Amino acid sequence: DTDAADHQDLQGLRVVVTAGGTREALDPVRFLGNRSSGKQGIAIAEAAAARGAEVVLVAGAIDIPPPDHPRIDTRRIESALELQDEMAGLLTDADVVVMAAAVADFRPREVATSKIKKTHQQDPAHAPDESAPVIELVRNPDILAGLVRDRARSGVDRPYIVGFAAETGDAEHTVLELGQDKLRRKGCDLLVVNQVGVGVTFGQDDNTVTILRRDGGEPVTTGPTTKAHVSHTLLDVIATDLRR
Ligand code: CTP
Ligand code: CA
Repeated sequence: DTDAADHQDLQGLRVVVTAGGTREALDPVRFLGNRSSGKQGIAIAEAAAARGAEVVLVAGAIDIPPPDHPRIDTRRIESALELQDEMAGLLTDADVVVMAAAVADFRPREVATSKIKKTHQQDPAHAPDESAPVIELVRNPDILAGLVRDRARSGVDRPYIVGFAAETGDAEHTVLELGQDKLRRKGCDLLVVNQVGVGVTFGQDDNTVTILRRDGGEPVTTGPTTKAHVSHTLLDVIATDLRR
């Protein structure tokens, strides 16, 4: 049943949802970002709250206002490192974590303390430096993989962990093959796979997703449909697993 909004079947469950894109600062006015709108993560937070869950929504850059619901506590973050810090404080209490945020894989190695200028005049005796800067990047931590690792170390089977996979597919592999590989690599309980690209999914109101399960159960595909419907389908799968 995907129309469970009035069932309150998630009452008492503590759900953490991340949504939106991270922004990785270059200087005080510039950042590296991505096209995530945050709509799918926000829809999951709303659906979970409507079904009775206590929700913490950890939101990066989002294209719509954060939801106004008494059971949704929204925390704003900007960068991947801020997201990691915020998650660390939420984990011990969470029953379910849904990582719908688009987390930057890399960040600039250095953040300039003042605005980067077009030309550099280092020495008045020489011509100004007109060369273009090269931005060096370093890897961000994989927050989802860290959650799975911390759970394994803790020896308890909570929280239930859901990842998202933004895949375009390539010449050798379909979106679903890449999703299966990613699920195995990440070790989360579910991986929600969708197809992304300019104008496809990112920023759109409809979505087609396939939910892959680590336990080898049959994948669940839904769509094209609203992000609200995708959210309820996902929560149905989670609720069924948690009851086992
Ligand atoms: N994720 C994360 N921390 C990162 C990067 C991604 O927690 N530094 C999470 C995302 O929130 C998502 C999942 O990992 O739930 C998969 O993100 P995706 O970008 O598809 O996978 P990556 O492992 O980063 O692989 P790649 O981008 O190379 O496909
Ligand atoms: Ca990535």
